[in-house]
Amino acid sequence: MTKASDPIGIFDSGIGGLTVAKAVRQLLPNESIIYFGDTAHLPYGDKSTAAIQAYSIKICDVFLQRKCKVILIACNSASAAATDLVKEYVGKRAKVFNVIEPVVNYIRETYRKTSIGLIGTKQTVGSKVYETKIEGLGNELQLQSLATPLLVPMIEEGFLQGTISQDIINEYLKKPLLQDISALILGCTHYPLIKKQVDNYYNGKVDIIDSSQIVAASLRAYLEYNLLTNTSIESFNEFMVSDYTQSFEELTKLFFGEQVHLEKYRLWE
Ligand code: DGL
Repeated sequence: MTKASDPIGIFDSGIGGLTVAKAVRQLLPNESIIYFGDTAHLPYGDKSTAAIQAYSIKICDVFLQRKCKVILIACNSASAAATDLVKEYVGKRAKVFNVIEPVVNYIRETYRKTSIGLIGTKQTVGSKVYETKIEGLGNELQLQSLATPLLVPMIEEGFLQGTISQDIINEYLKKPLLQDISALILGCTHYPLIKKQVDNYYNGKVDIIDSSQIVAASLRAYLEYNLLTNTSIESFNEFMVSDYTQSFEELTKLFFGEQVHLEKYRLWE
């Protein structure tokens, strides 16, 4: 039986999903969070669907052993490739969230008869998950999506401000595909870190949709509605990775706002 004091499991291919964990912590400070970064297998953005599905199920086993009440797929590539399988596998043992469905719901409530842009990894864009869901809403929306694979390594190297990163971002955003849009979905968990630079390009004329905030709000609504909000004062945060390096640990500061200790967990033994 799920208890309100049970933890929330959040996973990503690596450290980027910490932007989502950070938003969850800000909105739900009493919740216990177990974060899993599959650093041994990153990036997911270039992997096959089958590989991402296999990794995702392994990670879910870790969360199920730890009796997580919610499993949040905090990676667009894994959300695109593995959500259906994860939901089927987890069944009633935990509620499964991803970073795509709450954004699609937000779009349904906010936009009609317009064009929306999407930037993300090759896996996310190639899966056409956003297209299928958004065009199926019946809001007469068109989705224009562009894979922007240079952005993840650029962000991980700490190139956020300055002309080099702004030039790379502009180069992608000026593609004809992304003109005349009302909103742009940041379809990758790394991208909240370059929200300002994206906004600079559009000069405030295009809404920038940051999924981390939307996902955290939707998780809070679910917990409140189902009386699963943790009211106990004893909560904890734990951070696991499938491969440890000092530089992953240092990167947590960039994505989570503070440097946290990463515990190595061997997924395949
Ligand atoms: N976290 C991934 C995503 O949101 C980006 C990094 C990767 O490719 O693994 O798509």
